[in-house]
Amino acid sequence: MPETAPEGLTGLAFGGDYNPEQWPEEVWQEDVRLMREAGVTMVSVGIFSWALLEPSPGTYDFGWLDRVLDLLHDNGVRVDLGTPTVVPPVWFYRAHPEALPVAADGTRYEFGSRGAICHSNADYRAAAANITTKLAERYADHPALALWHVHNEYGVPVSACYCDSCAAHFRRWLARTYGTVEAVNEAWGTAFWGQRYTGFEQINPPRTTPTVGNPGQALDYRRFADVTLRENFTAERDILHRLSPGIPVTTNFMTALSQCDSIDYWAWGREVDLVSNDHYLITDGRRTHVNLAMAADLTRSVAGGAPWLLLEHSTSGVNWQPRNPAKAPGQMARNSLAHVARGSDGAMFFQWRQSRRGAEKFHSSMVPHAGTDSRVWREVVELGAHLDALGAVRGTRTVADAAVLWDWHSWWAQGLQWRPSEDHDPRERADAFYEALYDHHLTVDFAHPEADLSAYPLVVVPALYLTTEAAGANLRRYVERGGTLVVSYFSGIVDEHDAVHDGPYPGALRDVLGLTVEEFSPLLAGEGVRLTGPDEAELTGDVWTEFVVPRGAETVWTYADGLTAGRPAVTRYRLGEGTAWYVSTRLDARGLGVLLGRAADDAGVALRTELPRDVEVVRREGESGTYVFVINHSSSDAKVPLDGNGAEVLTGDRAAGGLVVPAGAVRAVRLDGR
Ligand code: GLA
Ligand code: ZN
Repeated sequence: MPETAPEGLTGLAFGGDYNPEQWPEEVWQEDVRLMREAGVTMVSVGIFSWALLEPSPGTYDFGWLDRVLDLLHDNGVRVDLGTPTVVPPVWFYRAHPEALPVAADGTRYEFGSRGAICHSNADYRAAAANITTKLAERYADHPALALWHVHNEYGVPVSACYCDSCAAHFRRWLARTYGTVEAVNEAWGTAFWGQRYTGFEQINPPRTTPTVGNPGQALDYRRFADVTLRENFTAERDILHRLSPGIPVTTNFMTALSQCDSIDYWAWGREVDLVSNDHYLITDGRRTHVNLAMAADLTRSVAGGAPWLLLEHSTSGVNWQPRNPAKAPGQMARNSLAHVARGSDGAMFFQWRQSRRGAEKFHSSMVPHAGTDSRVWREVVELGAHLDALGAVRGTRTVADAAVLWDWHSWWAQGLQWRPSEDHDPRERADAFYEALYDHHLTVDFAHPEADLSAYPLVVVPALYLTTEAAGANLRRYVERGGTLVVSYFSGIVDEHDAVHDGPYPGALRDVLGLTVEEFSPLLAGEGVRLTGPDEAELTGDVWTEFVVPRGAETVWTYADGLTAGRPAVTRYRLGEGTAWYVSTRLDARGLGVLLGRAADDAGVALRTELPRDVEVVRREGESGTYVFVINHSSSDAKVPLDGNGAEVLTGDRAAGGLVVPAGAVRAVRLDGR
């Protein structure tokens, strides 16, 4: 078994991407002095350094990196060492121009940014393996080495390449996956629009077509692109395992970023030794701490519930969104500690020292342009002390109350064109259901639709358009054995090839829901419907309605207007020992809260109604004890009851039966006697 925790780290990881190559060596001395002052325990080095490490083909310059690693080691800082394979040197591209990736419309990208890689290209793969080998040979025994950091954020900025080598590689993948071209025709439904193939050699990537292309082909290309990236990762990982045994290997994920949905992180989570994630606040007006919690929960789930590592976030603003606000005083620590509460064994940043040149010079960092006489630096030093105090949390596991189903293949299928309504945004539904659970103060695990769900009293299915037969059977078993399920519309519709399940909708889920859907009836922009229920106030929906036909399910809310007036809108079905809810329209936040409150009741999940909004309470449990994290994102002090007594780790105070958490503050209580 490879190691999973960074070698030689005894507490939580704290530090950031360290790019000393951007600075003269005198600055390095100040860097390590400041790292000691802030309590930095680990930094990520060398992620973009290939051009410096191999200035010309087969010529290496490791001298500067030797000095950096020695200096860090002398100052007690552990190293997360990058393989620099996300940016090959320019000499490589000039010798192998076909390693530059090609867009679906045939545009070949140029060198001069980063991540311009065709991952099917044999020359790139050989060069990446070579530099990885050289680094592993040189640094495997370096005493500073704690972790290997392969590549950077696979999947961005180029999620798929459409060049001729990729076409050949795609055909090989199809042959391996399907065996015969007839099987491909069947899976893709090429009888439609006369798209039948008679040989693998006729098949190309889904390049730009005059109108909508074959959905099965597009879906398979996303699978192929993901597998191709993973082949590149595992090739580097295997070299590192062989030459550097005992040092865990990671690559930084971006699990919940909707702009980066090209990676099946369930599959990747099984390949890395340690799951790590990058998270940045998306400042689009929504509550950023809710998206943060979701990203952390999803990352932990991808790690199978085990501790993971936040490898990048920001001390303050970023520079790549349309508007990049600074973080408010205290917000950085709330962000960092919220990740820790949800299972991260540390909090790392992009980047240590703010660059003066290059594309990211306006991105915040631990040592800002303003220098150390700055709010950001003072908060960085304070955070270092907090993380140091929380060292014993390392290795404990976050406890969840409910699960939300999540499947990247289903996301890919939902992104295909020509759907009943462009207003239905499946990711918006997932975010909205998550937010409703968050507002009920429930901690959520995400789960693959075919995973064992028996540990969860409540399972929520926001928009699982692609649902395999196996997933349908899994959910049925889950309910029959006592689970409570909540399913949102446009779930259970197609199989793994984007083919509609036989019979009425929702094919894979009609048994478990006790209903069929005769027809979808999406609403026009701005149109809404009212829903009347037995003892609740009216609910409202928009975007989507359906003609639901109960086949065993009881109607709980009924459409009061629109084409579906008088028909069921929300249903509930008792099956075996459990209950399955179905909601056929897009409920607003209040409606989701009411619905999930009722489902929680069925599930026997107690809701903490005494907790104020925007106060997060999350537990981590393990050998070193039980820790209750309370994070107050609101602007009022919060009184939070506690099931027991304990010591407040960050303040040294005692908490007996409860505690007051000031506005914007974080507390972590280690409960007595557990
Ligand atoms: C990503 C990258 C970093 C940096 C940050 C900026 O996470 O991995 O190199 O570009 O974004 O937010
Ligand atoms: Zn390619």
